[in-house]
Amino acid sequence: MVAIGATISAFWILAANSWMQTPAGYTMNNGRAELTSFYQAIFNPSMMPRFLHTMFAALVTGAFFMAGISAAVLLKNRASPVARYTLKLAVIFGLIVSVLEAFPFGHIHAKEVAQTQPAKFAAIEGLYSSRTQAPLVMFAIPFTQPPQLKANMEIPGLLSWMAFGDMNAKIKGINEFPADDIPPLWLTFVSFHNMVVLGLYFIFVMAWAAWRLRRGSLFDGRRFLWLLVISIPLPVAACQLGWMTAEAGRQPWAVYNLLRTADAFSSNLSAGMVLASIVLFSLIYLLLICLYLYLLAAKVRHGPDAASEKELAV
Ligand code: HEM
Repeated sequence: MVAIGATISAFWILAANSWMQTPAGYTMNNGRAELTSFYQAIFNPSMMPRFLHTMFAALVTGAFFMAGISAAVLLKNRASPVARYTLKLAVIFGLIVSVLEAFPFGHIHAKEVAQTQPAKFAAIEGLYSSRTQAPLVMFAIPFTQPPQLKANMEIPGLLSWMAFGDMNAKIKGINEFPADDIPPLWLTFVSFHNMVVLGLYFIFVMAWAAWRLRRGSLFDGRRFLWLLVISIPLPVAACQLGWMTAEAGRQPWAVYNLLRTADAFSSNLSAGMVLASIVLFSLIYLLLICLYLYLLAAKVRHGPDAASEKELAV
């Protein structure tokens, strides 16, 4: 029930966010956006790619959490039937969702950004001048003054092919957009590429774990179990990097091509009030996360209860 509730809640939050990224189903009337189609507004062009990518990001996060906690229990008690069972489940599930998160869902999402938010696409891919046969940049260090990439490792033509299905397709570079319509270049490039690197790492780790499971060595290697434990926060980091890509990438717009962030603040709130509420929220969340980590550590230290161990041992 919690999973269903969270999914429904995510749907509506992502519908609102997606509308701000790719507004649809409205008409402008005296400077006001008025709704013309509820369906088009909800299912705007970025909604389904974002919803599927975000939901699978949550499933990857859940799989790594379950795998890491099971590994922590196994490090204390190699024989625990519960931890063996939950690790096996997390690895099989984790491999499937990690692959799907990148292909097709990550790929579809990137294609959609190429079509609907070309300035964001040029920034995240590090394409600073327009190109046919645009390369896919695997690694580079971005510089902003003037925009350029150094120490690039790239595959020629692959970006044009992945985005538009044609190696010779022209992709607009940052140079074709007015200077005050482009997003922060360094942050978008770095956050996007690190999210993708983490995505490939998740596939690699889960595939390795599945291979060890097949060979019967998954529960024994202490170093591999430690790798699973320290990987627990990485999908959370990938999610944060994803949101940085999406939100920094849509700047300078609050609503893409309609309302600038600079014009979107509430004039009846003072900067002090905003700061105070950020500080209060941060304190509340800090308190909650401390409580959560404390309870989690206590639960893991205690391990599965004897009745469940007995039930699964049979
Ligand atoms: C491995 C290949 C991946 C590709 C090609 C990819 C592609 C993308 C793209 C293009 C965006 C930006 C969308 C926008 O600006 O509107 C994005 C955002 C995002 N990504 Fe990824 N991603 C990948 C892996 C991951 C992984 C492994 C996670 C987390 C486990 C993740 C979580 C997110 C989140 C939470 C967002 C923000 C919400 C959204 O716009 O969908 N991504 N991703």
